[in-house]
Amino acid sequence: MSDAVRFLTGLTQALAASTLYGEDHPAYRRAADAAFRQLQDLQKAEGITLDFSLLHGEVVFRERVVHELRAWEWTPRLAEAGIQRIEVTGEPSPDEFEEFLDLLAERVAGRPFDSSSVRHVGHGNIRFGQVSVHRPDDWAPAAATVLATLNYGLQEEYQAIHWVHDEVSRSGRLPLLEAEVIVQSLSVAMHAEQAAVLPLLQLKEFDQYTTTHSMNVAVLAMALAETLELGPAEVRAVGVAGLLHDLGKVRVPKEGVLKPGKLTEEERAEIQRHPAEGARILLAGDQPLDLAAVVAYEHHLMLDGSGYPCRHFQHDTHYGSRLVHVCDVYDALRTRRPYRDAWESETALQYIEQRAGLEFDPALAATFTDLIRRWDHRILAPPESPTAATNLQPAG
Ligand SMILES: [Fe+2]
Ligand SMILES: [Fe+2]
Repeated sequence: MSDAVRFLTGLTQALAASTLYGEDHPAYRRAADAAFRQLQDLQKAEGITLDFSLLHGEVVFRERVVHELRAWEWTPRLAEAGIQRIEVTGEPSPDEFEEFLDLLAERVAGRPFDSSSVRHVGHGNIRFGQVSVHRPDDWAPAAATVLATLNYGLQEEYQAIHWVHDEVSRSGRLPLLEAEVIVQSLSVAMHAEQAAVLPLLQLKEFDQYTTTHSMNVAVLAMALAETLELGPAEVRAVGVAGLLHDLGKVRVPKEGVLKPGKLTEEERAEIQRHPAEGARILLAGDQPLDLAAVVAYEHHLMLDGSGYPCRHFQHDTHYGSRLVHVCDVYDALRTRRPYRDAWESETALQYIEQRAGLEFDPALAATFTDLIRRWDHRILAPPESPTAATNLQPAG
């Protein structure tokens, strides 16, 4: 990926985080810092003066069409918000860049703006607006900086996942960038809370199951991947795969997914379609999500070949699928169901240990149980330590 593509992608990730969570959220802070660094890298590589045009569905960087961003969903989104041209003429300070992001986010969010105006940021190092940008003489001085706070629950992430699921079931299209931003945000939460607790949610209402569960599996999968010392890109990919592993459930009738009692043959067959449905959604996007699609397809397959979907040829499942499978089963057992109570963590871990080598990859099972016991120990140690679940309210 070129530096220009990296910067534009980073910029829109920050905009997505700002829309999903607001500007005080650590996920936004992290995305904004990353975009600022990407701008600095781009200026180092290409020189200080940069210009981008977003026209007719194309991104043009210094008179060259950026082929990697053909059919990029943000090109029309930015252009419609009156952002057809971005020019950088100097080296903006972090504050100036922050202000620039705020102004972009305001426009993307559809807040009223004067479409004829060209906005100058800070000392005029960045400006943006409709095409044919001229530098007016009356640029405004830098605005106040938005300061980060690290005080937050998981309510925003929960709602964002809920929104992603709704979006997929409504339009059939996966908002990939938003899904990636949610994973980044969960990763921030994981590290911010590391001294106290893994940021997992407890189910409050049964119809929240898929949302709560998706979020927990993403967190557990990332924690396991980090313990296994996978690289940052792999950890993120595993997080996205965990977040989206049950996505196919949006295409399965809700009655079956939420049914409290025993399922009929037909209902079971319907539910067992969700791995294939999920893989289909994930492969149909502009940027197919290979790992997430494989994991969605394979996450109900056991190490010994049992499980579903039924396959004509036996072959080993992907490492990512085995990793997500352990996390998936653990969270499912830890969750209260209409027909049974939630299992204690230790009982669920013993179940995983007993089935290591049959259902679970033995090495992954050992690392996972060890990891969770260490967390459980930390939570149980101080008597009044908080649980991450207390701030979840039903999202309606
Ligand atoms: Fe599933
Ligand atoms: Fe699941």
